[in-house]
Order: sequence, then C-alpha cells, then structure tokens
Amino acid sequence: MINQQNNAPIGIFDSGVGGLSIAKRIAEQLPNEQLIYVADSAYAPYGDISNQQIIERVNIIADQLIKKKCKALVIACNTATVNAIDQLRERLSIPIIGVEPAIKPAATMSVSKKVGILVTQATANNARFLALVDQYKNGAEVFIQPCLGLVELIEQGQQTSEEFNRLLNQYLTPLIPQGVDTLVLGCTHYPFMIDAINKIMPNGITLLETATPVSEQLKRQLTKHQLLAIRSDDVAHQFYSSSINTKQNEIFSQLWQSEVKVNLL
Ligand code: DGL
Repeated sequence: MINQQNNAPIGIFDSGVGGLSIAKRIAEQLPNEQLIYVADSAYAPYGDISNQQIIERVNIIADQLIKKKCKALVIACNTATVNAIDQLRERLSIPIIGVEPAIKPAATMSVSKKVGILVTQATANNARFLALVDQYKNGAEVFIQPCLGLVELIEQGQQTSEEFNRLLNQYLTPLIPQGVDTLVLGCTHYPFMIDAINKIMPNGITLLETATPVSEQLKRQLTKHQLLAIRSDDVAHQFYSSSINTKQNEIFSQLWQSEVKVNLL
C-alpha cells in the first residue's frame, strides 16, 4: 500500500560534514529518496561536548527534521548514535537508523586478529561503545584510538594540510608495530581521509566504514514500514547547517562532489 508519507524526505544529520559520507551512499543506493541533510556546525565537534549536551542537540535537530515532515531519520554520526539513539527512539515513533563502528566484521575479517578502531574522544569514553567492542571483538585484540583534532580540520576542509598529516601519523604509527591489519573508521568524517590513511598504513590494510550497511538498513526499514519513495521526477536534496560560514558551500560541494548550497537551519 502507498500512503502520502512515501515521498516525504529522509532527515540525515551529523555534527558537521562527516555524515555526507553516509548521505552520499544513500543518495546513490536509494535514488528516489529526497534527503534533507543537517550539519550541527554550531556545536561541532560532538566529540568534545558532554553526553547530556549531545542528547540535547540530537533532540533539537530531530525535532527540526520532523517539522520538515521527514518520514525517517538517520543519525549519521557514531558519537551521536552511541550517546543518544536509545533516548530518541523512546520519544519518536518514525524509523531511526544510527551508525555504529563495524567492529563485528572487522574482528571476523582480521587475519592477525589485531583490529584498530579510530574514533572521537566522546565515542572512546562511551560505555555503549565499549560494550559493543567487548560483545563483537570475537577474540581479536582491539586498539581503540581517539583521534583528537581530525574532525575540526575536516570541517575546515584541511584534510590535506600538514597539520592534519602530522596528527594522523601520530595516531596511526603506533598501530603498525602492533600488527593491526584491519582498521575501523568509527567516525563518519573519517572516510574523507582514506587516501591519507593508505599513505601511512602498510599495503593490504583493510579499512571498514559503515555507509553501505547504513544505507541497506535504511532500505530495510523503509520497506518494512512501506515507506519507500515512489516517483519519476528528479529529487532535489536540501542541505542545512546550524551555523553558516563563508567556506561552507565550497566544503560541502567538494565532499558531495557536486554544487551544494547550504542554508541556515
Ligand atoms: N561524524 C561524527 C562521528 O561519526 C563526528 C564526531 C564529532 O563531531 O566529534 O562520530
């Protein structure tokens, strides 16, 4: 059965531009769906704010997206998911899809049974995340690496800068002698630094991100709730930020790989 909700948009949000790595995959895999993307740039990075503040921000953004008539929400942020998804699901009845680091596939795929997980500080400190690691590590040794400062630099479009490479080297180099052969990108900003990671880590390292599984989970949920879009016209995605600056259109467009205009939420 088709109801009027089918062609309503899907709300996707993150603290900043990281969730574009998820939104892009959703746009490719579900081309009939209209997306409304929100970057909570005024409060980025979430990695540096308290659990309570993250819950507050997630609720505020979710309510704005509901006002824009979204039929489903994707929390395209590991930090926001581990800190706030349970609480949000208790309050809202529409499908809510979160992002969690791919620990289980990493532990299964790793030959050396040494897995690195790159995360923000707020994720590294989070009890739900630590419980996930314990639950899914499947005998592998897990190295949790908080990567302070990287999200901020990606937000400024600085992922090829010297400072960025210095920090990335500092975080990755200690993992090499440990024999890590599988690296989980536990923050949605990190797929934008895959080239830089590959330059530092040994050949053959497996990098795992979550855009495809999230997009597949969204499709399953939309199918289950009979909410898949049905349309023949082109969709026009919308992009918002809670704080606009002069470089934002350029940075969004670069990561989205086509011209984007960012509006104030
Ligand atoms: N992209 C977010 C994540 O996946 C960013 C975190 C932050 O704002 O610190 O965790």
